[in-house]
Amino acid sequence: MKLPISDRLLACADFVAPGDRVADIGCDHGYLSIHLLTNGIASSAIASDVNEQPLQSAMRNAVKYRVRDKMEFYLSDGVRNIPRDFDSLVCAGMGADTMIHIISSAPWLRESKYRLILQCQSRRPELRRWLYDAGYRINRETLVKDGKFIYTVMEAVYGPGEGPTPAETYISPQLLRSAHPLLPEYYERVKSGVELTVMGLRRSGDDRLPIYETILSDLTALEEQIYGNRC
Ligand SMILES: C[S@@+](CC[C@H](N)C(=O)[O-])C[C@H]1O[C@@H](n2cnc3c(N)ncnc32)[C@H](O)[C@@H]1O
Repeated sequence: MKLPISDRLLACADFVAPGDRVADIGCDHGYLSIHLLTNGIASSAIASDVNEQPLQSAMRNAVKYRVRDKMEFYLSDGVRNIPRDFDSLVCAGMGADTMIHIISSAPWLRESKYRLILQCQSRRPELRRWLYDAGYRINRETLVKDGKFIYTVMEAVYGPGEGPTPAETYISPQLLRSAHPLLPEYYERVKSGVELTVMGLRRSGDDRLPIYETILSDLTALEEQIYGNRC
């Protein structure tokens, strides 16, 4: 019975270290935990969701794929009701606001022993900035294409790091270093988004125009680094 797991979640699974006790927050169907357990990657999994229905579906799937004995289930807003004995926490398929709400509500996550694996669906620059301001550093970041979308997956840990420039909140140094084959395509999409923002701000005479013009020019300056070694 093949698990219908997406490439996006498989990319998150790649960030889990062998033997990790995983907490999958917003687990929905539970496929990530089930994949990690059936492939012998994680040693146990906490699956939690704020909604009853997805949690029930994760429980049914855990039985179906025979990993029920290695999973615990919690109805919880973020990490509020879950035990703290895990190594990596995964938040996937959520927007920045939800992730910031989940992480900021749990000051006990501010310990370097917890690895946060974050696959954010929206407003990634805001999330990267917030992580730094809250004392987390991004250790690594990668890209994955699923359908027509390109997603990023990042690993953050509590501890000192270098603050990102405004442009680095769009294309992080960790993504640049990854030299991922999808980086040029991702870069073009990000740059187009900022170009549209600049055009809109220009039309409306918005005060934030200089900030976004600088971001655009700093992003444009990355072109050589991104395409340089690919010719
Ligand atoms: C779009 S689904 C993503 C499911 C899965 N993580 C994935 O990436 O495929 C988002 C899930 O997060 C849950 N969720 C949203 N806000 C949450 C919160 N504050 N705490 C826990 N779960 C939450 C939703 O109920 C939903 O099941």
